[in-house]
Amino acid sequence: MTLTVVDHPLVQHKLTLMRNKSTPTNQFRQLLREISHLIAYEVTRNLPLENRTIETPMTTMQAPVLAGKKLALVSILRAGNGLLDGILELIPSARVGFVGLYRDEKTLKPVQYYFKVPDDLAHRVVIAVDPMLATGNSSVAAIDLLKGAGAQNIKFLCLLASPEGIIRMQETHPDVDIVTAAVDEKLSDIGYILPGLGDAGDRMFGTK
Ligand code: URA
Repeated sequence: MTLTVVDHPLVQHKLTLMRNKSTPTNQFRQLLREISHLIAYEVTRNLPLENRTIETPMTTMQAPVLAGKKLALVSILRAGNGLLDGILELIPSARVGFVGLYRDEKTLKPVQYYFKVPDDLAHRVVIAVDPMLATGNSSVAAIDLLKGAGAQNIKFLCLLASPEGIIRMQETHPDVDIVTAAVDEKLSDIGYILPGLGDAGDRMFGTK
């Protein structure tokens, strides 16, 4: 497994604005969209290319295009949708899936309520997106489901990760590379990332 922290100054600046509790919902969403482009750039860095013959106005050339089947982006609902929208702007032809998991606030364990993913996951690079890798419970459960549906090449893209969540993912799914904008200090006793940015879903949808 590789852990990539996207420490680009633009990403770090935008992340600080997102962490600030006085940043309103509309700005939070806009920042998430912008930052998702920059993180998606990293998560797709090693995608294989193949050459295609094309005609430029001047001549014929062999030019690189992404090889193989189209990517599958899988949003872990609901907060994943904020990242998904931005990444789709960058990779508009990607296929899209959704995994619905909510966190039981007492046990902190994930409960599945929805699962719909593209066919042929086995032949696609699958990028699972969720802004917060906190306890890792829901992320690991989502990856379990994706592997159950045939996915073999999965990357996990988030905005913030806790050390605990990274270890959990590493131990359970050592084949899954993680790309994040930051690794924070720790988890709170109710499973929130500290210092974090609060509840990503509430911040992006204004539900609290
Ligand atoms: N989910 C969130 O939205 N925020 C956290 O800090 C942890 C999990």
